[in-house]
Amino acid sequence: MPVRHFLTLKDMSSSELVQLLDHATYLKKTWRAGETRDTLRNRVLAMIFEKSSTRTRVSFEAGMTQLGGAALFLSPRDTQLGRGEPIEDSSRVISRMVDAVMIRTFEHHKVEAFAKVSEKPVINALTDDYHPCQLLADMQTWREHRGSIQGATVTWIGDGNNMCNSYINAAIQFDFKLRVACPEGYEPSADLLAEAGDRVSILRDPAEAARDAHLLVTDVWASMGQEEEQAKRAQAFAGYQISPKLMALADKDALFMHCLPAHRGEEVSEDMLEHSTSVVWDEAENRLHAQKALLEFLIVGLPG
Ligand code: CP
Ligand code: NVA
Repeated sequence: MPVRHFLTLKDMSSSELVQLLDHATYLKKTWRAGETRDTLRNRVLAMIFEKSSTRTRVSFEAGMTQLGGAALFLSPRDTQLGRGEPIEDSSRVISRMVDAVMIRTFEHHKVEAFAKVSEKPVINALTDDYHPCQLLADMQTWREHRGSIQGATVTWIGDGNNMCNSYINAAIQFDFKLRVACPEGYEPSADLLAEAGDRVSILRDPAEAARDAHLLVTDVWASMGQEEEQAKRAQAFAGYQISPKLMALADKDALFMHCLPAHRGEEVSEDMLEHSTSVVWDEAENRLHAQKALLEFLIVGLPG
């Protein structure tokens, strides 16, 4: 059997994704009830971080421990990866010693190169182009609050970045409509837009995009690696802030999500994260449960 990887949402079928989300919710309930589980006993996850992280690191590391396994934190500063050892050589070596590898890096082709020769499953924990693990948590959160997302209208406000690209993949996999409101020059991947067809539309006016939508989502204006563009981007994105006023245009049962970390006063108003429509803390917690389900899926397979 070829090794399964999770580099984008397209690495799983729609039915596998739904099955995984249901398992994530089951893991959440049983974990909260105090039940222990050791499906990944003696298994090891290597975690390579070339960018900062709070949620991703804590959720993967805690998740492995809670399932009876262990996680190794590897930074390029302390490994030979940071001194120029080729990715493929690192992959061949690391993947012979552990049961899965999680990578957060810059260029997406790096995780592809690692996965190509890896003997074990590789998980994309964010690249410049995609953040599929966050989408698992977002989709689990929607499912827990509202049920199936099929046929819903989701509105993305802000940068056409890695999160936005992953939302396009999700629109295809979970069958929802996606409106992207962004300034000119900050659109998501043209290839993905072409692939999504009329399922995804680009708008310039956040109010028009928000009207009657079921879910509003945003993310920082300058992602990791774009720090020098912060001032230019703050100017370009002025007016693309999600606030209770914008939320009021959405459907009466609309929810608000943000992958975090958030910049209050920029992409979100000061009061947005605590607004009645906000599910951002559930969304953050679900990183843990969704990824535990993902780790089981990739390493030992889901039960039943
Ligand atoms: N949302 C997310 O991936 O957060 P971290 O950068 O803290 O991991
Ligand atoms: N788009 C953001 C997401 C952080 C979780 C970034 O890449 O920095």
